[in-house]
Amino acid sequence: MNGHAAVIENSLGAPKMRKGSYIAPLDEESITLIFSPGNDSVGTLAKALKLFKEYNVNLLHIESRSSDRIPDQYEFFVECAPGGNVPKVVEILKGTMTYCSVVSRNNVNDSKVKDNYVPWFPLRIRDLDKYANQILSHGAELNADHPGFTDPVYRMRRKYLADTALNYRHGDPLPYIEYTEEEVKTWGTVFRELTKLYPTHACNEYNHVFPLLVENCGYREDCIPQFEDISNFLKDSTGFTLRPVGGLLSSRDFLAGLAFRVFHSTQYIRHHSRPLYTPEPDICHELLGHVPLFANPAFAQFSQEIGLASLGAPDDYIQKLATCYWFTVEFGLCRQNGELKAYGAGLLSSIGELQYSLSGKPELKPFDPEVTGNQEYPITEYQPTYFVAESFDDVKDKLIKFARTIPKQFGIRYNPYTQNVQVLDSKLQLQELANNISNELQILRYTLNKMD
Ligand SMILES: [Fe+2]
Repeated sequence: MNGHAAVIENSLGAPKMRKGSYIAPLDEESITLIFSPGNDSVGTLAKALKLFKEYNVNLLHIESRSSDRIPDQYEFFVECAPGGNVPKVVEILKGTMTYCSVVSRNNVNDSKVKDNYVPWFPLRIRDLDKYANQILSHGAELNADHPGFTDPVYRMRRKYLADTALNYRHGDPLPYIEYTEEEVKTWGTVFRELTKLYPTHACNEYNHVFPLLVENCGYREDCIPQFEDISNFLKDSTGFTLRPVGGLLSSRDFLAGLAFRVFHSTQYIRHHSRPLYTPEPDICHELLGHVPLFANPAFAQFSQEIGLASLGAPDDYIQKLATCYWFTVEFGLCRQNGELKAYGAGLLSSIGELQYSLSGKPELKPFDPEVTGNQEYPITEYQPTYFVAESFDDVKDKLIKFARTIPKQFGIRYNPYTQNVQVLDSKLQLQELANNISNELQILRYTLNKMD
């Protein structure tokens, strides 16, 4: 899933584990157990290994590390091969260990294991590298009805740009693309037509940011802006960054990027024969539709909330969150000073649908995650129904409330200093969080007193 067409896909990719990561099975069929003996750690691993042998569970990977749940103690991370009596092992470990959690990329049917099942998710921003190549379709794969299907030069260009993205790793400089004259001309046509509509059709926040992108990032009719400039601008504004993507990601993987304020974005452009049409997200959609609002703090916050809510969520909730994403970030409308305005990227990058969405013809409903998340939608035609937000803060508050209904046995907190996601499932972590909040409150109290 990247851009608007990507939301149709919801099957899971299968990132591979890199040593040292917290939750990540090496094998798609495997189940990973994390357990900690607490204070009585002497000989625990040996006892556990005996247990695995007794119940015919083969192990693919074992590591020990310092626990962030239990002070000054270790925990063990064990990946079990398919087969053997894993549920029995889990049952015994849960009865004898201070802590035991089960992690799997797959659906777990056994009820004893399912109780603690957590789908894999990235914990560090560099974990996004793990699914860089787990795309559902390569950016160079075109359907027969694609305008560029019979153009070998276009297809080679698509492959080059998609491969460049596939090779990208966190921390690398963002790829600088030397766009051709023909590509810039296509961009120019889209840019010229859309910018005529923005003053009357786009939300205030969009129109506030757009001139800043012209000023700082080279948004012009005769220039396709570069990712590096845009990403630096967004980072200064809200901490969001761009990451090139080589094809379609699963909904789970795409949404996980938002948790880290990372937006997976394509760098190729639509075919020059039909500059006002694209069957999939392209750089016009990403840069004109998405980028401006990621510079808005409230929009950035609610986008991240969707991402955080998705981490470790069951598949059916990923579907609901992806649908909420579709009707907000992609096709959202809002009411400002009594007028309907567009904020969704699918609208802000489509001349036809931008006008249609505000024409009074389509059905309008108030945004409500419980309703919106279950709404069916077409992907190859204009939306018959749009959801209207009161404000970005309103969308964020409703999403946070909805996220609380997602069955998870842990809390999630994003640490912007380390760009890590912290899984909160122990008293120690909550005490640390309370201390941090207390420090922040002291700063607030002190400053308020000074202002008085
Ligand atoms: Fe999009």
